Amino acid sequence: MDKIRIRGGQSLSGTIPIAGAKNAALPLMAACLLSDEELALSNIPHVADIASLAALLAQHGVRVSLNGDDPNQGCQGRVMGLRAETITNTEAPYELVRKMRASILVLGPLLARVGKARVSLPGGCAIGTRPVDLHLKALEQLGATIEIDEGYINAFAPEDGLKGAHITFPFVSVGATENLLMAACLAQGETVLSNVAREPEITDLAECLIAMGAQISGLGTDRLTIQGCEKLHGAHHKVLPDRIETGTYMIAAAITDGHIELTNTRYDLVEALCDKLIEAGVPVSETETGVLVERHHGKLTGIDVMTEPYPGFPTDLQAQFMTLMTKAQGAAMITESIFENRFMHVPELARMGARINVHGSSAMVRGTKTLKGAPVMATDLRASVSLILAGLASSGETIVNRVYHLDRGYERLEEKLAACGAEIERLKE
Ligand code: UD1
Repeated sequence: MDKIRIRGGQSLSGTIPIAGAKNAALPLMAACLLSDEELALSNIPHVADIASLAALLAQHGVRVSLNGDDPNQGCQGRVMGLRAETITNTEAPYELVRKMRASILVLGPLLARVGKARVSLPGGCAIGTRPVDLHLKALEQLGATIEIDEGYINAFAPEDGLKGAHITFPFVSVGATENLLMAACLAQGETVLSNVAREPEITDLAECLIAMGAQISGLGTDRLTIQGCEKLHGAHHKVLPDRIETGTYMIAAAITDGHIELTNTRYDLVEALCDKLIEAGVPVSETETGVLVERHHGKLTGIDVMTEPYPGFPTDLQAQFMTLMTKAQGAAMITESIFENRFMHVPELARMGARINVHGSSAMVRGTKTLKGAPVMATDLRASVSLILAGLASSGETIVNRVYHLDRGYERLEEKLAACGAEIERLKE
C-alpha cells in the first residue's frame, strides 16, 4: 500500500487547477443507463472512484471510452463516452458496490429503463451506517416492488413501468435525490420530489438530464418537478468543478500561511467555506477563474462550524476545517450534523499534537502553535486529506499510511501541492 511522506513547514504559493467534481461525475455516469445513445462527459476527474463506477457500468453492458486521457493535463480535455445501447446485466455485485457506495446510483436508472435491478446493499462505512432506506421507500412510491434477499436489493417495476408520484423525503439525502430524479425521468406522468437536496452536483445532474431530453423544473430549489418521458437521447455535458477539492486547497493555503489561486473553479460553489475562512481571519477573494486565498501570517481565530446540507457548510470539508482550527488562536467548536461517526481523524490529529475533545456530535478544538509530524493512518477519503493538511503545517516528517482512500477522490494531489512548494512525495510499495 502506498504512503505519502511530507516534510512540513513550507508556506505554499502558486496556482492549482481544480478537477471536475467526483460527486457530480458519478451520478452523471449512472445517467447513461437511461438512454441507448451516447452520453459524453467532459472534465471527468482522474480518480479511482470514476474507474470503479466505469467498471460497474461496463458489466451492465455500457461501452465506456476515454479520450484526451493525458495524465499531465489533469482532467482538462478528458472526455468519457458512455453508451448503454443494450443493458446486458442488471446485477450490481457486492465486490464492486462495497468498494464504492455511490454504486447504488445505478438502481433508479436500471429500474426505470429495463424494469428490474439487483443491487448489493452497500453496507456501512468508516463514517457511519449510511442506510439506503430513503432510496428504496421513494422508489416504492413510484410503484417498484422491493425485497432484500441475501444482502441484495431486488427491485422490480410494474409491467407497464414506474409511475410518477408526489414524494416528500423525511430528511435531505443527496444520493436518494439523485436516484429518484433519474428514475422519474422515465416514469409515466408527473413526479414531484419535495425536501430534496440542493447540492450543486444535483443541479449539474438535472442540467445533463435536460440536455438528454428530460423535463425537469425547480433546479436549485428543494422541490423538483419531473414530467416523465418514454426515451432520453444522447448528450454532451461538462462536469462542474469539484468544490471539495477547491475547499481543501483553500485550507492548505490558509494553514501554511500561503498564497494559492484555485483555477477552473467557482467562488459560489465554496461560499459557505469562504464565509467561515473570512470569519476566522483568512483573506479570500473571487478571481476571474476561481478563488484566491492569501494569508501571510495574519491572525487565525478559532470559530464554530456546523455541517449542514447545501448551502450550509459541507460535511466533506469538516475534517479539513478542523485541522485548520488546530492551529487557531482560541477555541473552535466543530459540530457534525450529517454523519454520526465522522471524527475518525481526531485521534490521528491528536498524535500530531492537536488538542481536541469530542462530545457526541461536537468536537472542541483548542488551538496550538505547533503540530509535530508523526506516522498516521488514513481512515476515509476526507479524513486522509485532513492528515495531509496537518502534515503540511507540522514541523518534521509525517507519513500518511493507506493513501488509497485519498486516491478515490483527489487527482494528482502530491503533484498539485508540490507545484506550490510542498515537500511531499509518494512512497510506492
Ligand atoms: C453524498 C456524497 C458525500 C457527502 C454526502 C453528504 C456522493 C457520491 N457522496 O453522499 O460525499 O458526504 O452526500 O453531503 O455524492 N441517509 C439515510 N437513509 C438513506 C440515505 C441517507 O439515513 O436512504 C442518511 C445518511 O446515513 C447520512 C445522511 O442521510 O447520515 C445524508 O446522506 P446522503 O446525503 O444520502 O449522502 P450520500 O448521498 O451517501
